[in-house]
Amino acid sequence: MKKIEAIIRASKFDQVKEALSIQNINFFTFYEVKGYGHQKGESRSYRGAIYDVGYIARIKLEIIVSDAFIEKALSTIALAAKTGEKGDGLILVSDISEILNIRTGLTNGDAINS
Ligand SMILES: Nc1ncnc2c1ncn2[C@@H]1O[C@H](COP(=O)(O)OP(=O)(O)O)[C@@H](O)[C@H]1O
Ligand SMILES: [Mg+2]
Repeated sequence: MKKIEAIIRASKFDQVKEALSIQNINFFTFYEVKGYGHQKGESRSYRGAIYDVGYIARIKLEIIVSDAFIEKALSTIALAAKTGEKGDGLILVSDISEILNIRTGLTNGDAINS
């Protein structure tokens, strides 16, 4: 079992969600985050002066998948999230050692999506 963490443009979230759904990946956690990176932050004006606030709105997706789904999930996210411009983001993959589904009591591979 793997955990995918994808930091993507907020503007790409709906496209990524739809692309994952087409691959039958319909379970994930997401949150709104702020990112620093190559892409400069949004500008704000205050009393006539322009300031770069430094950060930019991102969405972070967390998806737990069995090893059999990992390549498909990665390529799907990368394709849907890409613009080719600075700021497209990162995808991180790590191993998950244990899962417990609270409702069913099922563990590990059986715990996801059942
Ligand atoms: N080393 C890093 N650690 C954590 N988050 C990062 C890292 N590099 C990039 N990010 C995240 O990815 C977002 C996009 O990175 P950015 O450098 O702007 O784009 P790109 O590398 O595609 O040109 C950042 O706003 C930040 O949220
Ligand atoms: Mg970068």
